[in-house]
Amino acid sequence: MHEFCYKNNIVCCEDVPLTEITREYPTPFYLYSYRTLIDHFRKIRDAFKEADPLICFSMKSNSNLNICKALIKEGAGLDIVSGGELYIALKAGCPPEKIVYASVGKTEREIERAIRKNILFFNVESTPELIMIDSVARRLRKRPKVALRLNPDVKADTHDYITTGTRGKKFGIDFKSAEDIFDNANKYSNVRLKGLHVHIGSQITDVEPFVAAISKVVDFVEKSSIEIEWLNIGGGFGIVYGEEKARTAAEFADAILPLVKHRPFKLIIEPGRFIAGNSGVLVCKVLYVKAGSAGGDFAIVDAGMNDFIRPSLYNAYHEILPVVKRKSNPRKYDVVGPICESGDYLALGREFPEVVADEYLAVMGTGAYGYVMSSNYNSRPRPAELMVMNGEVRQIRRAETYADLIRGEKILKEFR
Ligand code: LLP
Repeated sequence: MHEFCYKNNIVCCEDVPLTEITREYPTPFYLYSYRTLIDHFRKIRDAFKEADPLICFSMKSNSNLNICKALIKEGAGLDIVSGGELYIALKAGCPPEKIVYASVGKTEREIERAIRKNILFFNVESTPELIMIDSVARRLRKRPKVALRLNPDVKADTHDYITTGTRGKKFGIDFKSAEDIFDNANKYSNVRLKGLHVHIGSQITDVEPFVAAISKVVDFVEKSSIEIEWLNIGGGFGIVYGEEKARTAAEFADAILPLVKHRPFKLIIEPGRFIAGNSGVLVCKVLYVKAGSAGGDFAIVDAGMNDFIRPSLYNAYHEILPVVKRKSNPRKYDVVGPICESGDYLALGREFPEVVADEYLAVMGTGAYGYVMSSNYNSRPRPAELMVMNGEVRQIRRAETYADLIRGEKILKEFR
């Protein structure tokens, strides 16, 4: 499924041994495989081919310019959620007519900028937001296209923090309110109400929640006989991190396509994790091994929750591979970072062949929601991002320096 595997007992990215990369670049760093990234994009594209969807890569999962550019070159559009993402999307060369914009809290300035840039769609999440977009559009004498994001009240079996399609969550509009909006479309004459959007959550490994949500939306279109140009079915396709039985792109498509093909609207999908997740790893180094964890030893590494927060935030499982596979007795480790919080860990109670200081570990499946969720907590510079492409290791973002940590700060005259 991805291009990170042992060859002669060394983890390689495509054909490059990670030991070569750790010799040249200090840890921690994110490392991506271009081939894996493109391969996953093509898997989705090919699986949904019959409906010929516009695939808007959800750049919240990975907004590195080179990652975006690589996908744009393959024909992808981008799913954005902020003015910052719009800025990066345009810098990456994404045609505005392939940009869709969700978020429950778009500011007036963000809306104005996106209208001026002529993006394909706003995915509107509430009536007050629709009123705001309509009024900004009137002021700018433009008529942007909007899609209503429906909240279908369908539960997806995933972490509560990344479930979005149930009643009580802040996302989307219920069917009744959406119907009212369509019935009163003349009130919003400065926008073109041309689409519907639904996204029920992330890391969904079953097809059923997708089928349930999309069926509800398609029924809604038929029952209320509204005319839409586009249906955006969101992202959320789950991937394999550990034991889960995720579906292939073809399995997701086989379940979804019958609901959406041969319809009088075009299809948009917004996968993030499925494309980027397994295309990246976080490489770190063991600093110390310390006795005394609940189930064995602590392997203290040079990457922490500021570099990669998914284990701490969602208790997410990420496989961790010793970069060099050695024959030694397995022991249990809590793999922890240097941050001053007990919740700072990459794995708890994980069994490995014995780990020693200076050894490198690869945290797998960190290409999505990895770097983008990093922070400077504990005044730690963010790590570099590297990519293997055409057999070569390239730096696609340098590591931050200490100077970056105070960039933008201003010393008050009282302290000068
Ligand atoms: N479309 C919308 C409107 C979304 O909100 C999201 C993700 C996506 C598409 C892409 O979902 P994907 O295909 O990547 O599952 N930080 C969390 C994930 C948050 C997802 C938020 N929305 C994590 O690390 O698991």
